[in-house]
Amino acid sequence: MNKVVVFPTKSFSLSISEIAPDKSISHRSVMFAMLSKGVSEIENFLRAEDTLNSLEIVKNLGAKVEDDGKIIKISSSGIQEPFEILDCGNSGTGMRLFCGLLSSANGHFVLTGDKYLRRRPMKRVSAPLMSIGAKLDGRQNGDLAPLSIRGASLKAFDYESKIASAQVKSAMILAALRADGVCTYREPELSRDHTERMLKGMGADIKVDGLTTTIAPLTNLLEPLKIRVPADPSSAFFFAVATAIIPNASVILEGVTLNPTRIEAFKALERMGANISYELKNDKYEPVGNIHVKYAPLHGIVIENNISWLIDELPALSIAMACASGESIVKNAKELRVKESDRISTVVEGLRACGIAVDEQEDGYKIIGGELQKAEVESDGDHRIAMSFIIAGLKCGMEVSDLDCINTSFPNFFELLKKITQVELN
Ligand code: S3P
Repeated sequence: MNKVVVFPTKSFSLSISEIAPDKSISHRSVMFAMLSKGVSEIENFLRAEDTLNSLEIVKNLGAKVEDDGKIIKISSSGIQEPFEILDCGNSGTGMRLFCGLLSSANGHFVLTGDKYLRRRPMKRVSAPLMSIGAKLDGRQNGDLAPLSIRGASLKAFDYESKIASAQVKSAMILAALRADGVCTYREPELSRDHTERMLKGMGADIKVDGLTTTIAPLTNLLEPLKIRVPADPSSAFFFAVATAIIPNASVILEGVTLNPTRIEAFKALERMGANISYELKNDKYEPVGNIHVKYAPLHGIVIENNISWLIDELPALSIAMACASGESIVKNAKELRVKESDRISTVVEGLRACGIAVDEQEDGYKIIGGELQKAEVESDGDHRIAMSFIIAGLKCGMEVSDLDCINTSFPNFFELLKKITQVELN
């Protein structure tokens, strides 16, 4: 699947129950099952490339996996040295969290990924892990994959991170579970907190006080995880933007995690004028419910705080900004440059191709709302760029190429898109 032609659409009104399951929670569920004593049961696991790679890796690490297509059951008798190289594909989350999990395991492990992942920075996890005794190496002094890890004893730590990254925090929490004393991790802004919620739910002794997380080493294996993975707000957000830019459209996005560290982009869209409400349905490891979105005219806003809470949604939000009246500014978002693509460049180039005036900054961009025009946009292998510009096509028509990346997070994206417009896939 190389190219899609998307046609403009008129108003729609629908309820979507098949948004892709959450990617962050799916990765964590299979990894954390390796730390438990019984059989973990994971329902609604995301069957997309990134998370299936993590599932394959836990199998290579010796986990016993039974999968009836609905529930995945995982039991483990400890991490085994794998025969294979562990391939994380396109996933930064997979690679960085496995670094934390494997740094203290018995054996030798090699982690690699696709050409996009092999150019992304790993020093942010390898440096703090090495500072507590991990034996980790890779190209450019441990910054680039392939990475090799020789499991070692880890020292207790008090680490202050300069970046608000859930991947770094999670890697360090996983390392802390096997360190030789109580550990403290501090971050500059709260990043998504699925790791803390899930591990606490499994019985780990983890305390969160503002931006400080304290982790006691495991004395026993954890309780097994019994989880139904909620829908992914980052995937749901594409349909929220679709609704916010098409006059009179409305949508109900069902069964989405309402974790506050994940729905900030919906709050930003609300600030822009969209009509959005949240309906809590249940709360086990995470609050889960429906998000209702209705069209209303949008106006520009400034985004400069809590960037890690909406970092994955900024490309889609840039499409709403392009359709809003007035100017929108995104700053303090330098992290966008080291995502699946350099998302500041890919957003700016894509919007300019659609006739929108954009100023590029080192840590963000300024978008002057206007009339989107049909263009040809390339994704640069980045799923969120591909889906964002496809959504822009609902307004004006669009041709987007390099689409295989969509399978990393949202394999049924086109099925759902076809409910609201005509698409031609080549
Ligand atoms: C993720 C954390 C975020 C996010 C990524 C998933 C996670 O990355 O962008 O898509 O599951 O922990 P950073 O931790 O690098 O900000």
